[in-house]
Formats: sequence, structure tokens, C-alpha cells
Amino acid sequence: MSDIVSLVLAAGKGTRMKSALPKVLHSVGGKSMVQHVLTAAATAGANRNIVVIGFGADDVRKALGDQAEFVVQSEQLGTGHAVLQAKELFQDFTGTILVLCGDTPLLQGAELARLIEAHRAKDAAATVLTAHMPDPAGYGRVIRNDQGQVIKIVEQKDATVAERQVSEVNTGIYCFECQPLFAALSNITCANAQGEYYLTDVIGMLADQGQAVWAVPAADYQQTLGINSRVQLAEAETILRRRKLIELMEAGVTVMDPASTFVDSDVIVGSDTVLYPFTWLEGATTIGSNCRIGPNSRIANTQIGDDVTLHFVYAHECNISDKVTVGPYVHLRPQTVLASGVKIGNFVEVKNSSVGENSKIPHLSYIGDTDMGSGVNIGSGTITVNYDGKSKHRTIIEDNAFIGCNTNLVAPVTVGREAYVAAGSTITKHVPAGALGVARARQSNMADWAAKRAQRAQED
Ligand code: UD1
Ligand code: CA
Repeated sequence: MSDIVSLVLAAGKGTRMKSALPKVLHSVGGKSMVQHVLTAAATAGANRNIVVIGFGADDVRKALGDQAEFVVQSEQLGTGHAVLQAKELFQDFTGTILVLCGDTPLLQGAELARLIEAHRAKDAAATVLTAHMPDPAGYGRVIRNDQGQVIKIVEQKDATVAERQVSEVNTGIYCFECQPLFAALSNITCANAQGEYYLTDVIGMLADQGQAVWAVPAADYQQTLGINSRVQLAEAETILRRRKLIELMEAGVTVMDPASTFVDSDVIVGSDTVLYPFTWLEGATTIGSNCRIGPNSRIANTQIGDDVTLHFVYAHECNISDKVTVGPYVHLRPQTVLASGVKIGNFVEVKNSSVGENSKIPHLSYIGDTDMGSGVNIGSGTITVNYDGKSKHRTIIEDNAFIGCNTNLVAPVTVGREAYVAAGSTITKHVPAGALGVARARQSNMADWAAKRAQRAQED
């Protein structure tokens, strides 16, 4: 089987987006449009991706990093010209080139795999993925002869009245054998209504030469839709979201209210997990089985084990082990690591801290830059004083320590194993293992003070 390389056209500005961001970098389903296209190409078996960039080239390069190679098309002279820019990279290549557009985020690998399969089955020089659009306006029309063979593609602006009646359109997605493609491309001209070098002209040329050119209608034309405006971007978002929720439900996840549940394409959720209403699962988030997430939770780029309950929680870039319970009204900030059995109660913020097995932070606390052992109990209102105005310092709380309510732990500081801290303390020094740290003024009581006060008031 010959190699497959994807060539993604993404040099255009996307004027109708009215954006400083290149069109293909607009995000949908939690990742950029062009990233969706690369995922589909990889799923279909492409083992090398080349992206043609132009408008916002540096941004696209930066966003995709080593997921692709890049060729720059400094002037957008047409789709044929765009493909031609990659010619050097294909000097010795004899395999198949999958030509794609960077603005079709709904495209899935299986649709491309069907195209590749058809291309191979016919031993074709070129195979076009087509669609029967309810409204073909604006698209190139696929013109077949009486035997149904493809003879050419005409752009709307160059089409005759009769050709415009054809409802089978070019989706802009193709399989080409590399050598015939570049041989034909070197002969295309810009003598057409738009003065552009059309990639579509290659189809007519190859057909004229008697090479095998085929057109395969897409199983699902919706997947081939290009996004040109913010309205279409929102429509794509709705489609991707619905697709993802169905995938999760079919895999055994309960989604109580799909209308208020937002899950990005790459999120993984285990079976028997329940997603309650108003839940957002974003980015590279993974959730195990038997969890209860939400209501009203936003979880981004976070790894979560099994049997976890997150209730009114915002967590980002965290790692949460099995059997952890969090919420309500909790903010888990980046680099928070919760070991199994941890309990975090209401109105708690945790940042850049590890919390050991079965430790509890039940109410009203800020834990930042802290290494906490297992079996620790943090009293209500405990604050780690991690910032001195210049630098952040760490707090260490060892296994089974007990921190009384309303304590300040002024970092850097350590509370040893099984040590206690008295409620209301401001701890600035090491509390050794097993000790009781008390750091507050002693209480003194003034006897009969209330009566004396009343008497003074009468005398005045
Ligand atoms: C193209 C097809 C048309 C098809 C339609 C499907 C041609 C001549 N026409 O038309 O038959 O129905 O797609 O959507 O190919 N691009 C570049 N450099 C350029 C020009 C375009 O990289 O110089 C990129 C664009 O960024 C875009 C893609 O190629 O991702 C398609 O270009 P676009 O101008 O939208 O082509 P259409 O006129 O829609
Ligand atoms: Ca287009």
C-alpha cells in the first residue's frame, strides 16, 4: 500500500470571519478547525501532513507546531497555485496526496477512508469527493458524460446556465496520485472568470488525457461543509457538540440534559459517569467511570479517576484520583493534585498543591503551594500565606496533622506528622512532629465587666 500524505489548503484570509485570527485557527469543539482536519487525515491513514499557509502564517505554524510541515503561499493566486507551492516537497514521492481544506472541521476520518478506498479500488489518478447540496450555489459543479464519467469541474462563475443546474458539487476534497497531479498542475492557466489558478482544472486535464478520474459522493455531505462566517462556526459547534454527546451516551455515559452540556471533541469520559446539567468539559480532559460531574461545573485539561464527585466546581489543569469528592463552590487551580479519597468542601481554593490520601479540607480555605500528606484535617478557614509580596513559598503539612480552624500558615513552614495547630494560630515556625503549635494571645477574662460598663454609662 502506497503512502498517503495530506495537503491542507489554509492560506486564505477568511474575510467573512471579520477576524485578525486566520480562519483555520478559529476554535470549534475545543480545537482549531485545521486541527480537526489533521485529526481526520491521521484517522484515515495519512502519515505526513503538509499545510499551505499564507495569511497569518506564523500563527498557524505556532498553533500546529510539529503536527505538520508547512509551505508558504505568499500570494493567494488560487487553489491550483496553492498546491503547486508544495511541489518541491513531493519531488520523489510516488504515493497518494489527499488534498483537504483547513476550514472543514466536521470532516471525519471514516469519510476520508471511504474516499481513499474508492480511489484505490479504481486505481484512479484522481478521485473527487462530491456532494449533492440542497443549494449548490457558489460551489464548483461536477460535470459527467453520458456514461457517468467525470469530464471536468466548472466553477460557478465560469459555468453555463445548463451546468449551473447540476446539483453534484465539488467539496474541495480529493485524492490524487502525486506524479500526474504535478504534471497537470504545471499546465494550468488563470484564464477564467476569477483570474485564478484553479486546482479543479486538473480534473478536466487528467480526464482529457484518458486517465482514470472518479467522483464519489460523500456519505454525509454535512461533513464537507466549509466554515466561512461566525454564523456557520456556531452551526458547526452545535453539530460537533451533538455528535460528541451521542458518542458519550452510546459509550455508557449518562447526559442528563444534552442541551446544557458542553463537551469538547477530545474529552474522554468513562462508562456510568453522570454529567449533570450546565457542565463544561474542555480540552484534554479525561474522566473515569462512575463519576458524578456537575451540576454547574467547568473542568478543563484535567485528569480525573473513577468514583469522583465534582459538584459546582471549576477545575483547570488538575489531577484528581479515585473516590475524591469536591464541592460545592470550589476552585481547583493549575497543578493541583488530589490523591484518592480526598474530600474538599464548600468555598475552598487549591492551587499548585498536592493533597495526600484521605485528607480533608471541608470549608472556607485557601491552600496554595502546599505539599500535604495523607490523613490531614484542615480546619475551617485555614489559609496558607504563600506570598510575601515578592516570592511564593511552600507549606508542608505532614501525614495525619490536624490544623485548627482559622489558622494562618506563613510559608515557608512545616507542620510535622501528627502535630496539632491550635485554632486561630498564625504559625510562622516549624511545628515538630507530634507537637501542639499555639500562636495566639492567651485569653484573659475581666470579671463582671458588663455590669461595670452599664454602671459607667449611667454615671455619664
Ligand atoms: C473551491 C473549489 C470549488 C469547490 C469549493 C468547495 C477551486 C477553483 N474551486 O472553491 O470547486 O466547490 O472549493 O469549498 O478550487 N486557498 C489557498 N490559497 C489560494 C486559494 C485558496 O490556500 O490561493 C485555500 C483557502 O484558504 C481555502 C481553500 O483553499 O481553505 C478553498 O479556497 P476557496 O477560495 O474557498 O475556494 P472556492 O472558491 O470556495
Ligand atoms: Ca470556499
